[in-house]
Amino acid sequence: MMKLKELEAWLQDVMGFETPKVKLEQYETPAHIAARMIHTMESSFGDVKGKIVADLGCGCGMLMTGTALMGASASFGFEIDQDALEICQGNLEEMELRSVELLQMDIKDLTSTYSRFFKFFDTVVLNPPFGTKRNQGADMEFLKVALDLSKTAVYSLHKSATRTHVTKKAADWGVKMQVIAQLRYNLPSTYQFHKKNSVDIEVDFIRFSLS
Ligand SMILES: C[S@@+](CC[C@H](N)C(=O)[O-])C[C@H]1O[C@@H](n2cnc3c(N)ncnc32)[C@H](O)[C@@H]1O
Repeated sequence: MMKLKELEAWLQDVMGFETPKVKLEQYETPAHIAARMIHTMESSFGDVKGKIVADLGCGCGMLMTGTALMGASASFGFEIDQDALEICQGNLEEMELRSVELLQMDIKDLTSTYSRFFKFFDTVVLNPPFGTKRNQGADMEFLKVALDLSKTAVYSLHKSATRTHVTKKAADWGVKMQVIAQLRYNLPSTYQFHKKNSVDIEVDFIRFSLS
C-alpha cells in the first residue's frame, strides 16, 4: 500500500482549476486532506485497492487520482465541466495513470435506477458542492446519486453544521453512516459570500455503508 507521505507528495502535483466557476462550486480538495481521505479508505476499510471506484464531480481529479495511485482497478471521474476535465486529463497524462476514465455528465442524469451505472461501483468518493444560497441541497443530491451507484461504501465531505440533517437523511435512506474525521477546510470566500479572502469551515469526512 502506498504510504501516506508518498501519496500526499504525488497529490501536491495535481494542477487545480484555472478559472474556478462559482456556480459549480469549483474548489479542489487540498492535497493533504485528499491524501488522508484516500489512505484511510484503504488502510481502515480496504475500499480502494482492486476496487472499481467513482468520483462524482471529479473536477481536476484530486480524489480520483488518489484512488488510482492507491491501486483501484478502475477509477471513473464524472464531471459536468469541460474545462475542468481538460485539466484533469492533463493531470492523468502527467502521472501516466491509465486505469482511469473520464465522463462528462451532469450527475443529475445518473439518478435513475435504470442508469447503466446503478450499483456498478464498489466505492464512490466525492467532495460535493456544499450547496450555496443559489444551489441549496446540491450536497444531498450528490450524496443520493452516490448511494445509488455504489455497492459497498460512499465517502463524502459535508459541512459539520449539517450533520444532524445528513444523519436523518441516511436513516431515511437505510444506510449506516460513520463520521471518520472532522476537518478544517479552507474555502475561498467567493463560495460563501464572505468579505474575507478565505474562510475556515468545519467539514465532516463521512463513510456511508451499504452492505
Ligand atoms: C467542490 S468541487 C470538487 C472537485 C474535486 N472532486 C476535488 O475534490 O478536488 C465540486 C465539483 O463538482 C462539479 N459539479 C458541480 N455540479 C455538477 C453536476 N451537476 N454534475 C457534475 N459535476 C458537477 C464542479 O464542476 C466541481 O468540479
